[in-house]
Amino acid sequence: MTQDNRKPLDTPEANGWHWQTNILHADTQLPAGFAAMPVPVARASTVIFPDLAAMRALDWKNDSQWRYGLHATPTSMELMRRLAALEGGKHCLLFPSGLAAISNVYFGLVKSGDDVLIPDNAYSPNREHGDWLAESFGITVRYYDPMIGNGIGALIQPNTKVIWLEAPGSVTMEVPDVPAIARAARERGVLTAIDNTYSAGLAFRPFDHGVDISVQALTKYQSGGSDVLMGAVVTVDDDVHHRLKRARMRMGVGVSVDDCSLVLRSLPNMQLRFEAHDRAAMTLATWLETRHEIAAVLHPAFEDCPGHQHFRRDFSGAGGLFSVVFDERYSQAQIDAFIEALRLFKIGFSWGGAHSLVVPYRVPSMRTATPWPHKGALVRFYIGLEDVRDLQADIEASLKAHLGA
Ligand SMILES: Cc1ncc(COP(=O)(O)O)c(C=O)c1O
Repeated sequence: MTQDNRKPLDTPEANGWHWQTNILHADTQLPAGFAAMPVPVARASTVIFPDLAAMRALDWKNDSQWRYGLHATPTSMELMRRLAALEGGKHCLLFPSGLAAISNVYFGLVKSGDDVLIPDNAYSPNREHGDWLAESFGITVRYYDPMIGNGIGALIQPNTKVIWLEAPGSVTMEVPDVPAIARAARERGVLTAIDNTYSAGLAFRPFDHGVDISVQALTKYQSGGSDVLMGAVVTVDDDVHHRLKRARMRMGVGVSVDDCSLVLRSLPNMQLRFEAHDRAAMTLATWLETRHEIAAVLHPAFEDCPGHQHFRRDFSGAGGLFSVVFDERYSQAQIDAFIEALRLFKIGFSWGGAHSLVVPYRVPSMRTATPWPHKGALVRFYIGLEDVRDLQADIEASLKAHLGA
């Protein structure tokens, strides 16, 4: 005879509902008296309203109302709060990548007929995004010399709506005079948006220098593990925040709270990591400058880096990124062989994780407004958390093997 295991489930429980209903309506909350350090992971698509009045009182501008998981849950809200606080901002919005955050600035603030200014040292996909909107959506995009400073005023037209900045450019490392550009823009009613990913919001505080919008690729130091893609837009002005938030809602953009939780887990040690990357990068950059194979080291803390005086004035650190220009006597094939022979430096984009990375760039093809003064090949290094002696030995061995003793 078979036993009927379902029988007890068919019997109503004490509250009159059956097991299947009670398992759905268990209404579990964190018990009072339970405390722990991590921010709880609050996954949700649907958010429940206590009554219809609460639902009908929804105001999309009100950031303290819970509306729908796409827009925020307590986990993503806590990350937004911490990121806004880090940069001294008031509002933060999260995006599924740094590039999606950049895209939100365009779609939130620019419409057909408007004009946008982009520095010649901008992250290439930002340039591509601008070019795409120019081709397909009737805006104009113009590129400017990142060292233009106050001279930006002469480029501003009545229809200029946004000026992008990147400080320093994450490949070529020029450091613009951010306060001068921000002042000139503000005097003419134009918004400034900085890609502040290089500094992670730790080493440069855009709002102290008059910038309106700070974009972060959280993919890098904030995540710290090379395993999360996310971006943020931090702002101080309510109206600018609402325009960006509206665009984000209309485009249906959201982030995974599990990813938020990973970033929240990494934030407490970000400053320590940043400082460790900074020290190791400085050691290697200083050593590379002495090598006969290297024509120039591009590091904002070095005196000959364009905009070094702005770096000294406005930044408190540099992190793990710098580039070198090889002597022009080496062919690209030799440089490629040098890169491929590195054992500890992995070939790959981005930065901010524990592992060292290397990427060659063809800079002349990435610029349109300013001539590139160097003739040799540019290679960007990201210095990870390996022992710096091993990293130096790795580079030295590959230099010897492929570029001669
Ligand atoms: C300067 C800069 N900004 C933004 C981004 C975009 O970040 P994500 O990779 O999250 O789209 C990158 C990515 O490499 C970057 O280098």
